[in-house]
Amino acid sequence: MALNKMEDLKYDGTERLAVDYVEGILQPTPTCDTWDQIWNFQARPDDLLISTYPKAGTTWTQEIVDLIQNEGDIDRSQRAPTHERFPFIEWKIPGMESGLEQANAMPSPRILKTHLPIHLLPPSFLEKNCKIIYVARNPKDSMVSYYHFHRMNKGLPAPGTWEEYFESFLAGDVCWGSWYEHVKGWWDAKDQHRILYLFYEDMKRNPKHEILKLAEFIGKSLDDKVLDKIVHYSSFDVMKQNPMANYTSIPAPLMNHSISPFMRKGAVGDWKNHFTVAQNERFDEDHKRKMTDTTLISHIRF
Ligand code: A3P
Repeated sequence: MALNKMEDLKYDGTERLAVDYVEGILQPTPTCDTWDQIWNFQARPDDLLISTYPKAGTTWTQEIVDLIQNEGDIDRSQRAPTHERFPFIEWKIPGMESGLEQANAMPSPRILKTHLPIHLLPPSFLEKNCKIIYVARNPKDSMVSYYHFHRMNKGLPAPGTWEEYFESFLAGDVCWGSWYEHVKGWWDAKDQHRILYLFYEDMKRNPKHEILKLAEFIGKSLDDKVLDKIVHYSSFDVMKQNPMANYTSIPAPLMNHSISPFMRKGAVGDWKNHFTVAQNERFDEDHKRKMTDTTLISHIRF
């Protein structure tokens, strides 16, 4: 049964959905449950949470995890679109069930999604010792991907020009806050909790290796045939054509793929087609300054 009925969408696309600050971090709150409801969300011990800063490869990771759980059976993974299979706990589309409502109605074991920085994560996830997969993507490609996502997604504020967006991203004045605070916060927490911390660039370079890491973390063993199937069905080209994984099931007033497809390029290094030399120098200087206090710095590759 579909948890969200897209025909119930109460939104005509004329205005962008509103956003507001929660604890100093821009959030799409007016369309969410109240912040208290999100903060008090009760995780279950067998929940698996996929956490990312936006545009880090969330959907890709969700597809891989689902294929692992379903032993590479694409028919089972295509049972529903991504946003129905994995409740997005702090999100709500007007007229539809919120992520919390979806999650509460879902039988265990659930796979949930969040973009929350760790200090805003509902505490029950860590109290219940849930397994959490965190994926980080280099900030230059994240910024580019996020910019194009803002253009096509009316659930986010208008991005302005590329130059304006570049400044907003560096200032951390975008939804879900600063990339730096996000990736560093989760990095610092990873050794005290059951957090598997992965990188988009590793997934691109050696998908088999990263899929095996995910399978081991989830507690599934995969034979070579199943592994090959998962590599195939979770590849960018195949996912781009998969209506259950490419977000084309979200009506165009909310996500307009003719402006920029959700499955856009799926590449490492597209920032080189967007950054000017001056922007790149400014970015590198800022990056160095914001990353001096963390061992994460040596893991980020552009
Ligand atoms: P681009 O905009 O750079 O193409 P998220 O799911 O976190 O919103 O991330 C979306 C980004 O991940 C988009 O990046 C999208 O194309 C990319 N992506 C989605 N599926 C992918 C896959 N199978 N392989 C590589 N990248 C993928």
